[in-house]
Amino acid sequence: MGQLDPQPAPRRQTRLDRYHDLYAERTKGLKASAVRSLFAVANRPEVVSLAGGMPNIADLPLDFVADTAAKLIRERGPQAMQYNGAQGEDRLREQICEVMAVEQIQANPDDVILSCGSQQALDLITRTFIEPGDVILAEAPSYVGALNTFQAYQAHVVHVPTDDDGLIPEAVRQAVVAVRATGRRVKFCYTIPNFCNPSGVTQTVARRRELLEVADQTDLLLIEDNPYGLLCLDHGPLPALRAFDHERVIYLGSFSKTFAPGFRIGWALAPHAVKEKLILAQEAATLCPPVFSQFLISEYLANWDWLGQIETFRTMYRARRQALLDGLDEHMPGGLTWTRPGGGFFVWVTLPEGLDSQAMLAQAVTHRVAYVPGTGFYADGLGTRNMRLSFCFPTPEDIFEGTRRLGDVVVDALTVARTFGLTAPTEGPDS
Ligand SMILES: Cc1ncc(COP(=O)(O)O)c(C=O)c1O
Repeated sequence: MGQLDPQPAPRRQTRLDRYHDLYAERTKGLKASAVRSLFAVANRPEVVSLAGGMPNIADLPLDFVADTAAKLIRERGPQAMQYNGAQGEDRLREQICEVMAVEQIQANPDDVILSCGSQQALDLITRTFIEPGDVILAEAPSYVGALNTFQAYQAHVVHVPTDDDGLIPEAVRQAVVAVRATGRRVKFCYTIPNFCNPSGVTQTVARRRELLEVADQTDLLLIEDNPYGLLCLDHGPLPALRAFDHERVIYLGSFSKTFAPGFRIGWALAPHAVKEKLILAQEAATLCPPVFSQFLISEYLANWDWLGQIETFRTMYRARRQALLDGLDEHMPGGLTWTRPGGGFFVWVTLPEGLDSQAMLAQAVTHRVAYVPGTGFYADGLGTRNMRLSFCFPTPEDIFEGTRRLGDVVVDALTVARTFGLTAPTEGPDS
C-alpha cells in the first residue's frame, strides 16, 4: 500500500466487550455488588444511607496513628516498606493470639496467617479447597462478599436455615446427608456466629457446641468468619467456635471493624496442615500481606489501649443501634418484623408478603434513604422480602430520620400492594 492509500477501516465491534470470548468460565456468574452499585446514590449528602457497612472510625486516635506512622517510617522505614514473609510478621501474629484470647481462643502464633483483610483469607481458603462444582454449605442469609468469592471459584452454595439462635445444627446435618446422597462433596460450612452480616443474629453458645458435635459426626470443616465478635453491645464477648475445637474450625478475624479497614489486615487461624497450604496460596496471590500495615497495627496494639478503644466504639454503636430500633418501632407499619442484634452493624427486616425490597429501592432513594435489598445475601434468589439496614455510619439523628423516610416508602408500597390484592390486609392499629 502506498503512503496515501486509505487505511482499512477498523473492524466494527459487534459486541460491547471485545474480550467477551476470552473471559474464564468462572467470571460468568459474578454479579456487581448491590452495595457497590448503590454507593453512588447512597453517598449523596441528602440521602440517609442505611445501606453501607463502613465502620465508623471517627473516634480513632488519629494523632497517635499519625505519630506512629511517622516514627515507623523514620526509624524502621527500610524494613517497614520492604517485602516480608507470606505468613506475616511474628510479633503481630503473637499479638493476634492475645486478641483472640478475649474470645477464649488458645492459639499458637505459628498457626496464624495474615491476609489483606479477612476477605482475602476467604479467598485463600476457597481457592485451597474448592474444585468447580464442590458444595459449600452457607448459613442463610450469608455475607455477600463470601458468596461472591464462592461463586468466583465455581462452588455450588447450598444454604442452611438459621433462626433467632443462629445456624441450626440439625439442618446442617441434614444438608450434609442430602448433598452426599447425590454423590457430591461438601467441602466446608461457612458461618458468621456473631452479629451476622446481614441478619444481625448471634448463635447461642449451646448451638455452637451442637454445631461442633454435628461437624464431628459428619466429618465437616467449619469456617468461622468473625469480624464483629468484639463489637458486642449487650454482654461480654462469647467464646468462639474455635475456642472449643482446634481441628474442625478455620477461624477468620479482622482489624477492619475494631481498628480501621484501610490497613487491610485480617487473619486466618487454621489447623497446622491447612495453614501450610494457605501460606502457599498467599505467596501466589500477593507474595506477602502489606508490611507497613502490619508494623503499624503491631505498634497500635502494643502502645494504645485497644480494648478501651473497642469500648469507645461500642458506646458509639450502641447509640446508633438504639436510634435504628427506636425509629423502626416508631415508623414502620404493622406486618413487618426485624431482628434486634446484640452487636455488629446490621438489622434484618422482613417485609409482608407482596412487597419486594428490590422494587422498592428506587422509591426509597427518591425519599432520600437507602438500604440493601435482601437478594444479594442468598445464592438462590431468596430474600426478595428482606432489607439489610445498617446502623454503623450515620449519626443517631440521621438514622432515626432515615427510618421515618423508609416508613413512608413502606406504607406507600403496602397501599399499592393492597390496591392490587398482592398482600393480605394486616391487622393491628397501624396497619
Ligand atoms: C462477615 C464479613 N466477613 C468478612 C468481611 C471482610 O472484612 P475485611 O476484609 O475488611 O477484613 C466483612 C466486611 O464487611 C464481613 O462483613
